[in-house]
Amino acid sequence: MELLCNAPAHATVPSRYIFPPEKRAALQLDNDLTPDDITLPIIDLHHGALSDDRRSQVAAEIIAAGKEFGFFQVVNHGVEEDAVQAFRDAAAGFFALPAKEKLPYCSYDMSKRFRLATSTSYDRGETRYWRDYVKFRCYPPSDDNVRCWPSKPASFAPRLVEYCEAVHGLAQTLLGLVAEGLGLDAGFFAGDLSGGDTHMSVNYYPPCPDPSVTMGLLAHCDRHLLTLLSQADVAGLQAMHGGRWLLVRPVQGAFVVNFGHQMEIVTNGVLASVEHRAVTNSVAARMSVASHVHPTDGCLIRPAPELVDEAENPAQYREFLFSEFMEAYDAADASRDDVLESFKIRRD
Ligand code: OGA
Ligand code: NI
Repeated sequence: MELLCNAPAHATVPSRYIFPPEKRAALQLDNDLTPDDITLPIIDLHHGALSDDRRSQVAAEIIAAGKEFGFFQVVNHGVEEDAVQAFRDAAAGFFALPAKEKLPYCSYDMSKRFRLATSTSYDRGETRYWRDYVKFRCYPPSDDNVRCWPSKPASFAPRLVEYCEAVHGLAQTLLGLVAEGLGLDAGFFAGDLSGGDTHMSVNYYPPCPDPSVTMGLLAHCDRHLLTLLSQADVAGLQAMHGGRWLLVRPVQGAFVVNFGHQMEIVTNGVLASVEHRAVTNSVAARMSVASHVHPTDGCLIRPAPELVDEAENPAQYREFLFSEFMEAYDAADASRDDVLESFKIRRD
């Protein structure tokens, strides 16, 4: 497998990474078309120490941000900066290992519990994305999950456990606030809806000599419930907003939060899953760490009855098992409309 992280710095872009003009990111970081006055909300969680008044205010901010953007950033979220940095260093250390140490992990077999690959397995086109990644189950630290993690660098597993424990707590806090903001029981998301193994993607985008002809990651929606992403201080993530790509500007110490398809379905469309993608840059390597909160495979997904009203606001989606959705997503190559189609209720 030809990994970008094994290659010396590129002086030019090899042709297999050059997209035809119509598929390039029309807007680049230094030519950002999104008006400057539109930025994602930054929500202060006050380290989890929320009085009742503040709680309902923060819950309302989250719902407003979710409805308008489907994306927001959280600060003072209670996850220690040292824990984030320590895992980021360990993950960067994994990509920096000699090629032969990483070889055993290289695979496009999606059933592998820890795998390293390049580009993406969703776009079957010829052109490669300027990205290497690892994907694996990161939480809980069950024996089945832990034994698939790499033994090098030695810090990887212990720092991962610490990071995921903290991020799990933050995810549950956010889900509690979402439930409260929607008028659902505080524990609405706490059971099977968020009880599957958390999956992690660590994406590595080395500097690219010509960002105008490459893409880091294809436009997609996340398939699960909730994503918490650390991008540190290098920009590259863009979210669709009002028909344009909005740059998710790095905010010191923040997590970027967005909703997956299951949140859209369970909330009957109130909190939509929004398309996003990554672009490259020529200056700095970028690494993003995305934690994807999943329902259990056997979880029954359906619009929350509390949010459905057969006369005014009928259910938009049918009931299904989460495992069925996972298969449909792979078959639809992550395309938002194609994947949702088979779960929609038609009313014509
Ligand atoms: C993802 C993702 C964006 C990024 O891993 O699902 O959208 O900034 N990553 O790398
Ligand atoms: Ni994503």
